Amino acid sequence: MSFSVGNRLIAALDVPDGAAADALVARLGGVPSWIKIGLELFCAEGPALVRAHVGAGGSVMLDLKLHDIPETVARATTRLAPLGAGLLTVHAGGGRAMLAAAVEAAGSATRVLAVTVLTSLDDADLADIGAVGPASALVLHRARLAIAAGCAGVVASPHEVAAVRAIAPAGFLVVTPGVRPAGAAAGDQKRVMTPAAARAAGADLVVVGRPLRDAPDPAAAARAIVAELGEAA
Ligand code: C5P
Repeated sequence: MSFSVGNRLIAALDVPDGAAADALVARLGGVPSWIKIGLELFCAEGPALVRAHVGAGGSVMLDLKLHDIPETVARATTRLAPLGAGLLTVHAGGGRAMLAAAVEAAGSATRVLAVTVLTSLDDADLADIGAVGPASALVLHRARLAIAAGCAGVVASPHEVAAVRAIAPAGFLVVTPGVRPAGAAAGDQKRVMTPAAARAAGADLVVVGRPLRDAPDPAAAARAIVAELGEAA
């Protein structure tokens, strides 16, 4: 991986406010090298929280899944890039011009990841929204689009990692949510895999939310996942 800042675990801070985020970060004990700030927390706390974590030396994935016309996404990305997140997500469904506009606006410090197909969607859901599936084919199609548009990587389910890896240039990042330690509840995720299986399939970074947030000891749960990923915590 050309983008190594520690271990491969990204803890999703899916909590309602800054106090809860600080509490979860403290309980994680610095085990995951990355934290992910998503829609819930960003809507509550805004850019200041990203600045605070980056300022404290944290590596941040800003998971806003931007999806709008290219001009709007470019302008939003221009506002977001100076916050210092290492990774920013946009939706591949926004199209080639939108992806390229985000990449250009993000500059070199913030890497743009294209979300291919949400891991909560299965083939029946894709049919429901009129998208041409199956999910595995759509993910690959959108990964090609992300590569052509200059994105640094994609977000895909662990089930598609190997296929994306096979068509991706060296250094292209594959980041996977939908990761569940053996025995953990899948919740609304429909295309899940264990951390070890996701890594074996070629994931560079794995995103884990509820299995860490809801664990009695999040640091221990994170340590177990990092060990499963084949790394020292
Ligand atoms: O709790 P869980 O491990 O399912 O959390 C997964 C996280 O990854 C959530 O924050 C979700 O928004 C995010 N995500 C996802 N699927 C994608 C992109 C991001 O589940 N395709």
